Amino acid sequence: MALNIDNMRPNFCVRKIMTERTHKTIEQAEQEGKYIRKVRSFVKREGRLTKAQARALELYWGDMGLNHQDGMIDINTLFANDNPVVLEIGFGMGKSLVEMAKNAPELNFIGIEVHKPGVGACIALAKEQGVDNLKVYEHDAIEILADCIPDGSLTTVQLFFPDPWHKKKHHKRRIVQPEFVESIRRKLKVGGVFHMATDWQNYAECMLEDMQSAPGYKNLSETNDYVPRPDSRPLTKFENRGQRLGHGVWDLQFERVD
Ligand SMILES: C[S@@+](CC[C@H](N)C(=O)[O-])C[C@H]1O[C@@H](n2cnc3c(N)ncnc32)[C@H](O)[C@@H]1O
Repeated sequence: MALNIDNMRPNFCVRKIMTERTHKTIEQAEQEGKYIRKVRSFVKREGRLTKAQARALELYWGDMGLNHQDGMIDINTLFANDNPVVLEIGFGMGKSLVEMAKNAPELNFIGIEVHKPGVGACIALAKEQGVDNLKVYEHDAIEILADCIPDGSLTTVQLFFPDPWHKKKHHKRRIVQPEFVESIRRKLKVGGVFHMATDWQNYAECMLEDMQSAPGYKNLSETNDYVPRPDSRPLTKFENRGQRLGHGVWDLQFERVD
C-alpha cells in the first residue's frame, strides 16, 4: 500500500520543501544549473477592472505608482520629505491602508499588491480621500523587497491577513517563511517594527515560531506571544463580523533590535 508521507508529518511548520518540482532547496537546484519555478504566495487572478479602477490607474499612476523596473528607490526624494516610512504588503483593495495613511499625515506609506483591481481601487480611494502620503507597487512583494527597497529604510512593515493557504500541502506558499522574515529585518531600521495580523490560528502559530527563532528581533508582546490590536490598525468589516461570531484574530509585533 502506498503511504502518503504528507499525512504522516506532525502538524507543525514543515519547511524543507522549497520548490514545487523537486525536494531540493532553490540554492542547490540553481547551483546545478536547473531552472526552477519559485513557489509564490499568490495565484495571479486576471480579475476585470471596474471603470473607476481603470480610470484611476490611467489618471493617477504617474503620481502614485511605483515601477519594479525602476529599481532601488530613494525614500527621501520619493516623498520630498524625510518622514518615517511604513510599508504594507498585500493591501487587498487598500481600504485600511488608505485609512491609515489619511490618519497619519506625519508618516509616508508604500503599499505593494499583485492584484491589479485592488491597486486601482486603492488609488481611486486615496485620491477621493485627498491622501498624498501614499505610493503603490503592482508587483510581487518578494521582488520589490529585494530590488527596490533600501536596507534599513523602514519604520514599520505591515502584513495584514496574508493568504492563509489552509491545506498543509500548501503551507510552502505562505509568505511568512524564515527567509522572508530575514529580508524584512534587513529593510527595517533598527528600532523598526514588523506587524502581522491573521485570523487563521495555525498561521499565527507558524508566524510566532518563525519570529521567535529569527535572530535580530524582539517580541513586543508582554506575554511573549501576541499583542492586542493596536488602534493604528483599522478594524475591517470582515474582522468585525468575525469577532461577533467569536472568531479569533492574532496580532504579532516584533522590533528589529540588531
Ligand atoms: C487575504 S488578502 C488580504 C488583503 C488585505 N490585507 C486585507 O486585510 O483585507 C491577501 C492579499 O495579499 C496579496 N498578495 C499575496 N502575495 C503577495 C505578494 N507576494 N506580493 C504582493 N501581494 C501579495 C493578494 O493578492 C491579496 O490581495
